[in-house]
Amino acid sequence: MTIPRGDSTNGVSGETYGVPGGLDIADPALAESVRQGMTRVEHLLHDSVRSELDFATRTSLHLVDAGGKRFRPLFAILAAHFGEPDDERVTKSAAVIEMVHLATLYHDDVMDEATMRRGATSANARWDNSVAILTGDFLFAQASRLVADLGTDSARSMARTFESLVTGQMRETIGAGNDEDIVEHYLSVIDEKTGSLIATAGRFGGFFAGVDEQHVRTLDRIGTIVGSGFQISDDIIDIASPSGESGKTPGTDLREGVRTLPMLYVLSDENADPRLRELLAGPITGDDEVDEALRRLRESDGLARTRRTLDDYAADAHRQIASLPECPAREAMASLVDYVVARTH
Ligand code: IPE
Ligand code: IPE
Ligand code: MG
Ligand code: MG
Repeated sequence: MTIPRGDSTNGVSGETYGVPGGLDIADPALAESVRQGMTRVEHLLHDSVRSELDFATRTSLHLVDAGGKRFRPLFAILAAHFGEPDDERVTKSAAVIEMVHLATLYHDDVMDEATMRRGATSANARWDNSVAILTGDFLFAQASRLVADLGTDSARSMARTFESLVTGQMRETIGAGNDEDIVEHYLSVIDEKTGSLIATAGRFGGFFAGVDEQHVRTLDRIGTIVGSGFQISDDIIDIASPSGESGKTPGTDLREGVRTLPMLYVLSDENADPRLRELLAGPITGDDEVDEALRRLRESDGLARTRRTLDDYAADAHRQIASLPECPAREAMASLVDYVVARTH
């Protein structure tokens, strides 16, 4: 089984398409079981975003149907394969996680003024900011309704995760304080805004599959590390990937003044390319400046250093994975970590 690209079908059919460096699940029985689990999630996702108001259904399905990698539900389903993966609460929790993720994407594209998402026109660009914000709220509402079926503890846990997503995003928005190290600040932002939800995917997937407590904690920990690594790889892709390949517009972070890790490494290195440091220090507006900054960033030691940091995260994730029981799911989880690194090349 290979992980789908962000620009293809929604996977209801369980269809897989070859992605160079995509996730390979070597064990055929596991691959089939994961495929079935993901198909169940896909159906629940579609059913859950239906509203009496056709417009809400249409604006929600806009990004559901645009595709996406379904990385978070996949992580939950894989985590569940350390236990009993067919429990319906596994499906429900994986769908909740993807819906919360989707909601944050609608809101994120408003904040980042993005025009493309999952290879499609972003909701804020296709309709307007109000529609995008309301659709995000609608998805949060539907996710909350579903999570209520999983019990009070899960609802509380999801609320905490939601809080982390928001505070992480707020931290990104207000930036590092004068007495804060900019790289440390960035790492705490991504831990909250991305790591927290993937950690919850691992925790929920494991917990509802009846995995023992100690291993559920490890799955949570792996989710945090993989999630931060995933965000670092996303930040690399925003700089290094050829136009359109990610389903988003490259250079969006630069245009929006979001200083990601490669940029922070350049800014904190006095010996780095002076012109690049000058560009990164101020707001970048014109297309020519964005192109120049991207060109210089691709050549920079900051980008190379970011790749090394990503490798460190991957090594840390592999160490944690090694403490899980040996089984095909463990091997697949290790491949998932390799995929997160490989997708940046
Ligand atoms: C985008 O997430 C936001 C990040 C945390 C980088 P994904 O890259 O998982 O987006 P989709 O779900 O595949 O569209
Ligand atoms: C996505 O963040 C939203 C969250 C992780 C909550 P980004 O702004 O970094 O991601 P992309 O690049 O737009 O997908
Ligand atoms: Mg953002
Ligand atoms: Mg964004």
